[in-house]
Amino acid sequence: MTGAVHKTLEVGLGDRSYPIHVGPGILGDATLIPADLAGRDVLIVTNATVAPLYLDRLAGALSGHRVESLVLPDGEQFKTLTSFTAIIDRLADLGYHRDAVVMALGGGVIGDLAGFAAACYQRGIAFVQLPTTLLAQVDAAVGGKTAVNHAAGKNLIGAFYQPRGVIADTDTLDTLPVREYRAGLAEVVKYGAGLDAAFFAWLEDHRDALSERRTPVLVEAVIRCCSIKAAIVAEDEREAGCRALLNLGHTFAHAIETGTGYGRWLHGEAVAAGMVMAADLSVRLGSLSEAEAARLRSLLESFGLPLSPPAMGGDAMLELMGMDKKVSGGRLHLVLFDGLGASLVRADVPITELKAVLAASDPA
Ligand SMILES: NC(=O)c1ccc[n+]([C@@H]2O[C@H](COP(=O)([O-])OP(=O)(O)OC[C@H]3O[C@@H](n4cnc5c(N)ncnc54)[C@H](O)[C@@H]3O)[C@@H](O)[C@H]2O)c1
Repeated sequence: MTGAVHKTLEVGLGDRSYPIHVGPGILGDATLIPADLAGRDVLIVTNATVAPLYLDRLAGALSGHRVESLVLPDGEQFKTLTSFTAIIDRLADLGYHRDAVVMALGGGVIGDLAGFAAACYQRGIAFVQLPTTLLAQVDAAVGGKTAVNHAAGKNLIGAFYQPRGVIADTDTLDTLPVREYRAGLAEVVKYGAGLDAAFFAWLEDHRDALSERRTPVLVEAVIRCCSIKAAIVAEDEREAGCRALLNLGHTFAHAIETGTGYGRWLHGEAVAAGMVMAADLSVRLGSLSEAEAARLRSLLESFGLPLSPPAMGGDAMLELMGMDKKVSGGRLHLVLFDGLGASLVRADVPITELKAVLAASDPA
């Protein structure tokens, strides 16, 4: 803790460990940038929505550095090799060397893109995450997954590459559109529902303050999510084991996102409906009580999140789930509840039960 409401924790990865700072107004606090990056050349990568809001504040704080910026167009459709190349071209045109620093200022799209470019330029230069969406603050900016999309699939080209630090200024969330904010809350709920019963109960108690984006509660929520994710990443950086539990609801969610066409449903909205479906399946399989499933639905509902998927047809959904990358060895691996606040991966879900859940949740 370094101030009244500013909190810090560390992702423990040996000599690649790094701090996560969370608090209001810290975007302009250059003292939070790792000391060994002092004075180095900086390229801030951001987008056309975030730049007018926050670029000057960040650039202004970086006195003593040469600071350049690259403003990319906004949108998941620009998370491509073309944008990646634009970042590399810029770094090369500037004559930046191996000691340069990439700063990713924006949501998960910018973080994933800039992180992947930093991982590749001169075989890897330092980068710092400055996430400005709730989803990026609690999820995308932490853990070192970087990627761009390819026509054949989302995040198909990427690398595990950890940032040198994460600076999450919760004040930046004030300007986030409500739908984006709620989508981030779905991931917040995921951490409690799937991994931490006490945090889930805390979310229930603070649902109004969170909906209203009240600072101290928001800081606490972000730091708790980051500490859950940091512990998992420290144990399983490359998703060989427990990191898969972070995908609670995600197999259903990816089917919703693909089936509706990317962009119509925000990822977090699809995760909310996906968690309800995972809960329904868990109730049928006896690893969650109906009362616990009802608590999950109630919390998601109070955040204005969807509780069921759009009309897609159970068969279409099943096919899309089968195509999801969590299929391994020909069997569908699903993250299910193991009571509220815990989860497990199951590879033995009876197809009849899965079909029953899809049929029950299909509004068609
Ligand atoms: N690397 C990981 O571990 C990881 C985890 C989860 C998601 N992701 C990736 O993250 C991406 C989604 O991230 P996202 O939800 O942040 O989406 P996003 O980056 O597209 O941001 C959502 C929208 O909010 C705008 N925005 C950002 N900050 C703002 C602010 N403070 N005020 C106003 N508008 C703002 C953006 O310009 C954009 O229009 C996906 O590409 C996903 O694959 C990565």
